[in-house]
Amino acid sequence: MNIDISRFYAPDSFAKIKDFASELETPCLVIDTDVVNKQYTELSSHFPDAKIYYAVKANPEKPVLELLNQKRSNFDIASTYELERVLAVGVTPERISFGNTIKKRKDIAYFYEKGIRLYATDSKADLRNIAEFAPGSKVYVRILTEGSQTADWPLSRKFGCQNDMAIDLMILAKELGLVPYGVSFHVGSQQRDIGAWDSAISKVSHIFKRLQDEHDITLKMMNMGGGFPANYSSHTQSLDVYAAQITHFLEANFKDDMPEIFLEPGRSLVAPAGMLISEVVLISRKDKFALHRWVYTDVGKFSGLAETLDESIKYTIYCDKDGEEEGAVIAGPTCDSADIMYENYKPMLPLTLDIGDRLYWFSTGAYTATYSAIEFNGFPPLRTYCI
Ligand SMILES: Cc1ncc(COP(=O)(O)O)c(C=O)c1O
Repeated sequence: MNIDISRFYAPDSFAKIKDFASELETPCLVIDTDVVNKQYTELSSHFPDAKIYYAVKANPEKPVLELLNQKRSNFDIASTYELERVLAVGVTPERISFGNTIKKRKDIAYFYEKGIRLYATDSKADLRNIAEFAPGSKVYVRILTEGSQTADWPLSRKFGCQNDMAIDLMILAKELGLVPYGVSFHVGSQQRDIGAWDSAISKVSHIFKRLQDEHDITLKMMNMGGGFPANYSSHTQSLDVYAAQITHFLEANFKDDMPEIFLEPGRSLVAPAGMLISEVVLISRKDKFALHRWVYTDVGKFSGLAETLDESIKYTIYCDKDGEEEGAVIAGPTCDSADIMYENYKPMLPLTLDIGDRLYWFSTGAYTATYSAIEFNGFPPLRTYCI
Protein backbone atom coordinates (compact mmCIF):
# COMPACT_ATOMS: atom_id res chain seq x y z
CA MET A 1 0.00 0.00 0.00
CA ASN A 2 1.00 3.58 -0.57
CA ILE A 3 1.71 4.29 3.13
CA ASP A 4 5.01 5.27 4.72
CA ILE A 5 4.92 2.88 7.70
CA SER A 6 8.05 4.45 9.20
CA ARG A 7 6.01 7.57 9.99
CA PHE A 8 4.11 5.44 12.53
CA TYR A 9 6.37 2.62 13.76
CA ALA A 10 10.05 1.75 13.86
CA PRO A 11 10.58 -1.28 11.56
CA ASP A 12 11.41 -3.65 14.44
CA SER A 13 8.36 -2.59 16.44
CA PHE A 14 6.04 -2.94 13.44
CA ALA A 15 7.37 -6.44 12.69
CA LYS A 16 7.18 -7.44 16.36
CA ILE A 17 3.55 -6.37 16.76
CA LYS A 18 2.47 -7.91 13.45
CA ASP A 19 4.19 -11.23 14.17
CA PHE A 20 2.73 -11.38 17.65
CA ALA A 21 -0.77 -10.69 16.30
CA SER A 22 -0.57 -13.18 13.45
CA GLU A 23 -2.09 -16.06 15.46
CA LEU A 24 -4.52 -13.91 17.47
CA GLU A 25 -8.21 -13.74 16.83
CA THR A 26 -9.42 -10.34 15.64
CA PRO A 27 -10.29 -7.72 16.64
CA CYS A 28 -7.48 -7.12 19.09
CA LEU A 29 -5.16 -4.38 20.23
CA VAL A 30 -1.43 -5.00 20.67
CA ILE A 31 0.69 -2.58 22.71
CA ASP A 32 4.47 -2.49 22.46
CA THR A 33 5.52 -1.17 25.87
CA ASP A 34 9.02 -0.36 24.55
CA VAL A 35 7.38 2.43 22.58
CA VAL A 36 5.66 3.79 25.71
CA ASN A 37 9.09 3.78 27.35
CA LYS A 38 10.59 5.67 24.41
CA GLN A 39 7.79 8.24 24.33
CA TYR A 40 8.05 8.88 28.06
CA THR A 41 11.83 9.30 27.86
CA GLU A 42 11.51 11.67 24.92
CA LEU A 43 8.90 13.85 26.64
CA SER A 44 10.97 14.00 29.85
CA SER A 45 14.06 15.01 27.88
CA HIS A 46 12.17 17.88 26.26
CA PHE A 47 10.79 19.08 29.61
CA PRO A 48 13.55 18.08 32.06
CA ASP A 49 12.16 20.16 34.93
CA ALA A 50 8.53 19.12 34.55
CA LYS A 51 6.76 16.40 36.51
CA ILE A 52 4.87 14.00 34.26
CA TYR A 53 1.44 12.82 35.44
CA TYR A 54 0.39 10.04 33.06
CA ALA A 55 -3.35 10.36 32.25
CA VAL A 56 -4.33 6.78 33.05
CA LYS A 57 -7.60 7.07 31.12
CA ALA A 58 -5.64 6.84 27.85
CA ASN A 59 -4.63 3.25 28.56
CA PRO A 60 -4.79 1.62 32.00
CA GLU A 61 -3.23 -1.75 31.05
CA LYS A 62 -1.19 -3.20 33.91
CA PRO A 63 2.13 -3.51 32.00
CA VAL A 64 1.84 0.15 30.93
CA LEU A 65 1.26 1.26 34.54
CA GLU A 66 4.06 -1.00 35.79
CA LEU A 67 6.49 0.44 33.28
CA LEU A 68 5.60 4.05 34.11
CA ASN A 69 5.76 3.29 37.82
CA GLN A 70 9.28 1.93 37.33
CA LYS A 71 10.15 5.16 35.55
CA ARG A 72 8.93 7.08 38.59
CA SER A 73 6.12 8.75 36.65
CA ASN A 74 3.29 10.46 38.48
CA PHE A 75 -0.32 9.63 37.66
CA ASP A 76 -3.43 11.67 36.81
CA ILE A 77 -6.46 9.73 38.02
CA ALA A 78 -10.12 10.18 37.08
CA SER A 79 -11.94 7.71 39.35
CA THR A 80 -11.61 5.35 42.29
CA TYR A 81 -11.34 2.48 39.78
CA GLU A 82 -8.25 3.98 38.16
CA LEU A 83 -6.90 4.69 41.63
CA GLU A 84 -7.17 1.00 42.53
CA ARG A 85 -5.25 0.08 39.40
CA VAL A 86 -2.30 2.37 40.06
CA LEU A 87 -2.12 1.51 43.77
CA ALA A 88 -2.13 -2.18 42.81
CA VAL A 89 1.10 -1.76 40.83
CA GLY A 90 2.77 -0.04 43.78
CA VAL A 91 2.39 3.65 42.94
CA THR A 92 2.73 5.70 46.12
CA PRO A 93 0.05 8.30 47.00
CA GLU A 94 2.31 11.35 46.73
CA ARG A 95 2.66 10.60 43.01
CA ILE A 96 -1.10 10.70 42.39
CA SER A 97 -3.39 13.59 41.51
CA PHE A 98 -7.19 13.35 41.46
CA GLY A 99 -7.56 15.30 38.22
CA ASN A 100 -11.30 14.94 37.62
CA THR A 101 -13.24 18.08 38.53
CA ILE A 102 -16.46 16.05 38.72
CA LYS A 103 -16.35 13.77 41.72
CA LYS A 104 -18.61 12.27 44.37
CA ARG A 105 -18.09 13.20 48.00
CA LYS A 106 -17.51 9.57 48.91
CA ASP A 107 -14.85 9.29 46.21
CA ILE A 108 -12.97 12.29 47.60
CA ALA A 109 -13.10 10.62 51.03
CA TYR A 110 -11.77 7.40 49.50
CA PHE A 111 -8.86 9.17 47.80
CA TYR A 112 -8.04 10.94 51.06
CA GLU A 113 -8.14 7.68 52.98
CA LYS A 114 -5.66 6.23 50.48
CA GLY A 115 -3.28 9.15 51.13
CA ILE A 116 -3.92 11.36 48.08
CA ARG A 117 -3.46 15.04 48.87
CA LEU A 118 -3.65 16.73 45.48
CA TYR A 119 -6.99 17.60 43.86
CA ALA A 120 -8.22 19.49 40.78
CA THR A 121 -11.30 21.65 41.03
CA ASP A 122 -13.30 24.17 39.01
CA SER A 123 -16.33 24.94 41.19
CA LYS A 124 -17.25 26.13 44.66
CA ALA A 125 -19.36 23.07 45.48
CA ASP A 126 -16.52 20.70 44.62
CA LEU A 127 -14.02 22.81 46.54
CA ARG A 128 -16.21 22.70 49.66
CA ASN A 129 -16.44 18.93 49.30
CA ILE A 130 -12.65 18.68 49.07
CA ALA A 131 -12.29 20.84 52.18
CA GLU A 132 -14.69 18.57 54.05
CA PHE A 133 -13.47 15.16 52.87
CA ALA A 134 -9.80 15.85 52.11
CA PRO A 135 -8.96 18.54 54.69
CA GLY A 136 -5.69 20.43 54.31
CA SER A 137 -5.03 19.07 50.80
CA LYS A 138 -3.42 20.94 47.93
CA VAL A 139 -5.87 22.13 45.29
CA TYR A 140 -5.35 23.46 41.79
CA VAL A 141 -8.01 25.17 39.74
CA ARG A 142 -8.71 24.29 36.14
CA ILE A 143 -9.37 27.18 33.79
CA LEU A 144 -11.22 27.31 30.50
CA THR A 145 -9.02 27.60 27.44
CA GLU A 146 -9.46 28.33 23.77
CA GLY A 147 -8.39 25.97 21.03
CA SER A 148 -11.42 23.74 20.57
CA GLN A 149 -11.47 24.52 16.82
CA THR A 150 -7.93 23.26 16.37
CA ALA A 151 -8.02 20.20 18.65
CA ASP A 152 -9.18 16.93 17.08
CA TRP A 153 -10.75 15.92 20.40
CA PRO A 154 -11.64 19.15 22.26
CA LEU A 155 -12.08 19.13 26.04
CA SER A 156 -13.36 22.65 26.55
CA ARG A 157 -16.70 23.88 27.99
CA LYS A 158 -17.34 20.92 30.26
CA PHE A 159 -14.21 21.52 32.37
CA GLY A 160 -12.65 24.64 33.77
CA CYS A 161 -13.84 28.07 34.81
CA GLN A 162 -13.17 31.67 33.85
CA ASN A 163 -10.23 33.56 35.35
CA ASP A 164 -12.30 35.49 37.88
CA MET A 165 -13.87 32.32 39.22
CA ALA A 166 -10.41 30.70 39.38
CA ILE A 167 -9.21 33.55 41.56
CA ASP A 168 -12.30 33.34 43.80
CA LEU A 169 -11.77 29.59 44.18
CA MET A 170 -8.15 29.96 45.26
CA ILE A 171 -9.17 32.59 47.83
CA LEU A 172 -11.94 30.32 49.09
CA ALA A 173 -9.52 27.37 49.22
CA LYS A 174 -7.33 29.32 51.63
CA GLU A 175 -10.33 30.27 53.77
CA LEU A 176 -11.38 26.62 53.91
CA GLY A 177 -7.99 25.51 55.20
CA LEU A 178 -6.83 23.99 51.91
CA VAL A 179 -3.54 24.81 50.18
CA PRO A 180 -4.16 26.96 47.06
CA TYR A 181 -1.48 25.28 44.98
CA GLY A 182 -1.79 26.12 41.31
CA VAL A 183 -3.69 26.37 38.05
CA SER A 184 -4.30 23.75 35.37
CA PHE A 185 -5.59 23.75 31.83
CA HIS A 186 -6.02 21.35 28.94
CA VAL A 187 -5.86 22.89 25.48
CA GLY A 188 -7.75 19.95 23.94
CA SER A 189 -6.53 16.52 22.96
CA GLN A 190 -4.54 16.17 19.72
CA GLN A 191 -4.12 19.94 19.66
CA ARG A 192 -2.76 21.06 16.29
CA ASP A 193 -2.25 24.72 17.12
CA ILE A 194 0.77 25.14 19.38
CA GLY A 195 -0.35 28.75 19.94
CA ALA A 196 -3.17 27.37 22.14
CA TRP A 197 -0.55 26.87 24.90
CA ASP A 198 0.57 30.49 24.54
CA SER A 199 -2.80 32.00 25.41
CA ALA A 200 -3.39 29.44 28.19
CA ILE A 201 0.01 30.05 29.81
CA SER A 202 -0.47 33.79 29.68
CA LYS A 203 -3.89 33.43 31.37
CA VAL A 204 -2.25 31.39 34.12
CA SER A 205 0.54 33.91 34.68
CA HIS A 206 -2.11 36.63 34.97
CA ILE A 207 -3.94 34.60 37.66
CA PHE A 208 -0.66 33.99 39.53
CA LYS A 209 0.10 37.71 39.50
CA ARG A 210 -3.34 38.87 40.61
CA LEU A 211 -3.46 36.38 43.48
CA GLN A 212 0.00 37.45 44.62
CA ASP A 213 -0.51 41.20 44.25
CA GLU A 214 -4.10 41.53 45.42
CA HIS A 215 -4.54 38.63 47.84
CA ASP A 216 -1.08 37.68 49.02
CA ILE A 217 -1.56 34.12 47.78
CA THR A 218 1.52 32.56 46.19
CA LEU A 219 0.68 29.78 43.78
CA LYS A 220 3.41 27.25 43.09
CA MET A 221 2.36 25.06 40.20
CA MET A 222 1.03 25.18 36.66
CA ASN A 223 -0.44 21.97 35.23
CA MET A 224 -0.38 22.15 31.43
CA GLY A 225 -2.49 19.02 30.88
CA GLY A 226 -2.16 16.92 27.74
CA GLY A 227 -2.83 17.78 24.11
CA PHE A 228 0.49 16.61 22.69
CA PRO A 229 0.03 14.89 19.35
CA ALA A 230 0.03 11.32 18.14
CA ASN A 231 0.58 10.29 14.52
CA TYR A 232 -2.72 9.99 12.72
CA SER A 233 -3.59 10.55 9.06
CA SER A 234 -3.40 14.34 9.25
CA HIS A 235 0.11 15.52 10.01
CA THR A 236 1.09 17.52 13.07
CA GLN A 237 4.38 19.10 14.05
CA SER A 238 6.76 16.81 15.89
CA LEU A 239 7.08 16.79 19.67
CA ASP A 240 10.38 18.70 19.59
CA VAL A 241 8.69 21.61 17.77
CA TYR A 242 5.87 21.61 20.37
CA ALA A 243 8.38 21.46 23.21
CA ALA A 244 10.58 24.28 21.87
CA GLN A 245 7.60 26.57 21.32
CA ILE A 246 5.98 25.82 24.68
CA THR A 247 9.31 26.34 26.48
CA HIS A 248 9.56 29.70 24.74
CA PHE A 249 6.01 30.65 25.89
CA LEU A 250 6.89 29.61 29.46
CA GLU A 251 10.04 31.73 29.54
CA ALA A 252 8.30 34.71 27.98
CA ASN A 253 5.50 34.61 30.57
CA PHE A 254 7.28 33.61 33.77
CA LYS A 255 10.87 34.76 33.13
CA ASP A 256 12.97 34.00 36.24
CA ASP A 257 9.98 33.09 38.35
CA MET A 258 9.09 29.73 36.83
CA PRO A 259 6.50 27.71 38.78
CA GLU A 260 6.65 23.92 39.12
CA ILE A 261 5.41 22.52 35.82
CA PHE A 262 3.18 19.45 35.58
CA LEU A 263 2.32 17.71 32.31
CA GLU A 264 -0.52 15.21 31.94
CA PRO A 265 0.12 13.34 28.69
CA GLY A 266 -2.09 10.44 27.69
CA ARG A 267 -2.45 10.12 23.94
CA SER A 268 1.12 11.07 22.98
CA LEU A 269 2.62 8.43 25.30
CA VAL A 270 0.49 5.42 24.38
CA ALA A 271 -1.16 5.98 20.98
CA PRO A 272 2.04 5.28 18.98
CA ALA A 273 2.62 2.08 20.99
CA GLY A 274 -0.58 0.42 19.83
CA MET A 275 -1.87 -1.28 16.72
CA LEU A 276 -5.43 -2.53 16.42
CA ILE A 277 -5.92 -5.49 14.12
CA SER A 278 -9.28 -6.23 12.54
CA GLU A 279 -10.60 -8.44 9.77
CA VAL A 280 -12.74 -7.53 6.76
CA VAL A 281 -16.19 -9.09 7.18
CA LEU A 282 -17.85 -7.87 4.00
CA ILE A 283 -17.20 -5.62 1.00
CA SER A 284 -20.07 -4.25 -1.04
CA ARG A 285 -21.20 -1.46 -3.37
CA LYS A 286 -24.60 0.11 -2.92
CA ASP A 287 -25.30 0.06 -6.67
CA LYS A 288 -23.41 -1.25 -9.64
CA PHE A 289 -22.06 2.18 -10.63
CA ALA A 290 -21.25 3.28 -7.06
CA LEU A 291 -17.87 4.96 -6.82
CA HIS A 292 -17.11 3.74 -3.35
CA ARG A 293 -16.98 0.37 -1.68
CA TRP A 294 -18.37 -0.17 1.78
CA VAL A 295 -15.85 -2.12 3.80
CA TYR A 296 -17.36 -3.69 6.92
CA THR A 297 -14.85 -4.84 9.47
CA ASP A 298 -15.05 -6.71 12.79
CA VAL A 299 -14.14 -3.65 14.87
CA GLY A 300 -16.32 -0.57 15.13
CA LYS A 301 -17.37 2.50 17.01
CA PHE A 302 -18.68 0.36 19.85
CA SER A 303 -15.66 -1.89 20.14
CA GLY A 304 -12.85 0.62 20.55
CA LEU A 305 -13.10 3.20 17.80
CA ALA A 306 -15.28 5.71 19.68
CA GLU A 307 -12.97 8.57 18.72
CA THR A 308 -14.10 8.19 15.11
CA LEU A 309 -17.28 9.93 16.32
CA ASP A 310 -17.83 12.84 13.91
CA GLU A 311 -14.72 11.44 12.18
CA SER A 312 -12.67 13.34 14.77
CA ILE A 313 -9.67 11.05 14.90
CA LYS A 314 -8.60 9.82 11.49
CA TYR A 315 -6.60 6.65 11.92
CA THR A 316 -4.38 5.39 9.15
CA ILE A 317 -5.51 1.95 7.99
CA TYR A 318 -3.07 -0.46 6.39
CA CYS A 319 -3.43 -3.88 4.77
CA ASP A 320 -0.98 -6.29 3.22
CA LYS A 321 -2.35 -5.98 -0.33
CA ASP A 322 -0.99 -3.82 -3.16
CA GLY A 323 -2.32 -2.38 -6.39
CA GLU A 324 -4.66 0.41 -7.38
CA GLU A 325 -6.26 2.10 -4.38
CA GLU A 326 -9.70 3.64 -3.98
CA GLY A 327 -11.35 5.49 -1.08
CA ALA A 328 -13.76 3.34 0.93
CA VAL A 329 -16.50 3.89 3.48
CA ILE A 330 -15.48 1.99 6.63
CA ALA A 331 -18.11 0.58 8.98
CA GLY A 332 -18.27 -1.71 11.98
CA PRO A 333 -19.96 -5.09 12.45
CA THR A 334 -23.00 -4.18 14.60
CA CYS A 335 -26.67 -3.75 13.65
CA ASP A 336 -26.51 -0.02 14.41
CA SER A 337 -26.32 2.46 11.58
CA ALA A 338 -24.30 4.82 13.78
CA ASP A 339 -21.55 2.23 13.59
CA ILE A 340 -19.85 3.87 10.60
CA MET A 341 -16.33 5.08 11.25
CA TYR A 342 -15.58 6.98 8.07
CA GLU A 343 -18.04 8.11 5.42
CA ASN A 344 -16.61 11.52 4.45
CA TYR A 345 -12.95 10.82 5.01
CA LYS A 346 -12.60 7.72 2.91
CA PRO A 347 -9.35 5.92 3.63
CA MET A 348 -7.61 4.59 0.54
CA LEU A 349 -7.61 0.81 0.30
CA PRO A 350 -6.46 -1.44 -2.57
CA LEU A 351 -9.09 -2.78 -4.95
CA THR A 352 -7.56 -6.20 -4.30
CA LEU A 353 -8.76 -6.09 -0.67
CA ASP A 354 -10.82 -9.16 0.10
CA ILE A 355 -13.15 -10.54 2.74
CA GLY A 356 -11.04 -12.14 5.49
CA ASP A 357 -8.05 -9.81 4.95
CA ARG A 358 -6.61 -8.08 7.97
CA LEU A 359 -6.71 -4.32 8.50
CA TYR A 360 -4.05 -2.70 10.68
CA TRP A 361 -5.19 0.48 12.46
CA PHE A 362 -2.13 2.57 13.25
CA SER A 363 -1.50 4.59 16.44
CA THR A 364 -4.44 3.10 18.32
CA GLY A 365 -2.84 2.64 21.75
CA ALA A 366 -4.84 5.49 23.34
CA TYR A 367 -8.55 5.81 24.06
CA THR A 368 -9.56 2.60 22.27
CA ALA A 369 -9.90 -0.52 24.43
CA THR A 370 -11.34 1.43 27.37
CA TYR A 371 -14.07 2.88 25.17
CA SER A 372 -15.16 -0.55 24.03
CA ALA A 373 -18.70 -1.64 25.00
CA ILE A 374 -18.94 -4.80 27.08
CA GLU A 375 -21.61 -6.62 25.10
CA PHE A 376 -23.21 -4.52 22.37
CA ASN A 377 -24.86 -6.93 19.92
CA GLY A 378 -23.23 -9.64 22.02
CA PHE A 379 -19.71 -8.72 20.87
CA PRO A 380 -17.10 -8.96 23.65
CA PRO A 381 -14.89 -5.98 24.58
CA LEU A 382 -11.72 -5.38 22.60
CA ARG A 383 -8.96 -7.70 23.78
CA THR A 384 -5.63 -6.04 24.58
CA TYR A 385 -2.21 -7.70 24.62
CA CYS A 386 0.93 -5.96 25.85
CA ILE A 387 4.29 -7.11 24.55
C1 LIG B 1 -7.52 16.10 33.02
C2 LIG B 1 -6.87 15.48 31.84
N1 LIG B 1 -5.53 15.46 31.79
C3 LIG B 1 -4.87 14.88 30.76
C4 LIG B 1 -5.56 14.28 29.73
C5 LIG B 1 -4.77 13.61 28.64
O1 LIG B 1 -4.77 14.36 27.47
P1 LIG B 1 -4.09 13.84 26.15
O2 LIG B 1 -4.57 12.47 25.89
O3 LIG B 1 -4.46 14.84 25.12
O4 LIG B 1 -2.62 13.84 26.38
C6 LIG B 1 -6.96 14.31 29.72
C7 LIG B 1 -7.70 13.72 28.61
O5 LIG B 1 -8.90 13.60 28.59
C8 LIG B 1 -7.63 14.91 30.81
O6 LIG B 1 -8.96 14.92 30.87
